[in-house]
Amino acid sequence: MKKMTVLIAVLCLGIASSLFAAQTAAGNRSVTSTASAKKAPAEAFSATTPNTDELRRRMEQRSSSATSSKSSSKSLKDAAKGHFQMGVALPSRAISNKDTSAIAAKQFNRVVAENEMKWDTIEPQEGKFNFGPGDKLVEFARKNGMAVHGHVLVWHSQTPQWVFQGENGQPCTRELLLKRMKNHINAVLAHYKGKVATWDVVNEAFEDNGQLRNSQWRSIIGDDFIKIAFQYAREADPNITLIYNDYSMPNNAKRAGILKYIKEANKGKKVIDGIGLQGHWDLNYPDVNQAEKTITECAGTGLRLFISELDLNTNRGFRNSGRGLERVEGANDANISDMNRALRDRYAEIFKIFVKYQDSIDAVTVWGIADNYSWIRGEPLLYDKDLKEKPAVKAIIDVLDKAPAAKKSTLRKSTSSLLSGK
Ligand code: XIL
Repeated sequence: MKKMTVLIAVLCLGIASSLFAAQTAAGNRSVTSTASAKKAPAEAFSATTPNTDELRRRMEQRSSSATSSKSSSKSLKDAAKGHFQMGVALPSRAISNKDTSAIAAKQFNRVVAENEMKWDTIEPQEGKFNFGPGDKLVEFARKNGMAVHGHVLVWHSQTPQWVFQGENGQPCTRELLLKRMKNHINAVLAHYKGKVATWDVVNEAFEDNGQLRNSQWRSIIGDDFIKIAFQYAREADPNITLIYNDYSMPNNAKRAGILKYIKEANKGKKVIDGIGLQGHWDLNYPDVNQAEKTITECAGTGLRLFISELDLNTNRGFRNSGRGLERVEGANDANISDMNRALRDRYAEIFKIFVKYQDSIDAVTVWGIADNYSWIRGEPLLYDKDLKEKPAVKAIIDVLDKAPAAKKSTLRKSTSSLLSGK
């Protein structure tokens, strides 16, 4: 009987000490990784003893991630929570296609119409508005809890010629062009009120040398056409975030010209809220220093930043013997092509910069769902032409997972209120 009591006591002690060890481990883990507990609730260690269901769930989770090591089970949008939104540009055909729309819904929480909200689609003839294709995107976003970004109100490209024409095919007057601009902005912003929280108001108005592009907008209205467009947009909807969007932002002369204009335009009443850095980059351009300089200078304006059209041109600045492949020397994953490795490492490198400046960045948007949907040739995107996920996706998720959450809320109220919380 005494022996029995001793045995029971020893058993109890054993159970108690292993419970204590488990709880201590849980405690330590929660002390050392408060940030990752926020980021990966599914993996967060439970301080209480797991029940059978919980254990089964964990085992299933482990085995499914073991069998699908090539494609990530966690999504980009989940990994990016607490950092910035993850966006994608979609054309109508990508929404109608069940495979591309499934990828978009799984990975992203922000969408932008690749062409469907441009002037030539929305107002092909004066006063005749065609919101159908844009509405399709808004509906897709609503169903999947995604924010919608508006692209674009005033641009020299994909704008019908009637906009700039007066009588007899001559350029119209400043007054007429301003009237058409205002009418377009009012109609579009009224239609998408409460549905689209951020808009590219003016796109690509500067040359690489930092001078204003000599577009018809500028030649007919004058240098103040950008500021006026923003004023019209602000009057039409005071609650949305208004963005100036351009490419080659890492180019010093161009960036200087743009930032000077923005600062001038914002003197007095602030009309420009954000800067869109398109991010049509490649495997080498811009190098890390130039990318950081670009972001810090733009963030120095105090405006919100959007990496708005990210893709990495694999034909430009890349040779098999060039820097792109030098980066991957020593990589020991033999199952992926060299280009996929180069892209994986480059996307990871760029996202490390984005998380470093995440307090200033509201969203990172890739310009296309897969290589066969891209506006440029090559392999610039995160999915290949067979819609297979590239190693870059996992690499980006790893970078996001390792980074602490942003200190301040990176989203304006208007944007977050349009997200249904997914
Ligand atoms: C591109 C689209 O991707 C193409 O489908 C279209 O033919 C031309 O425009 N900068 C922008 C985007 O702001 O609107 C452009 O999109 C790419 C460059």
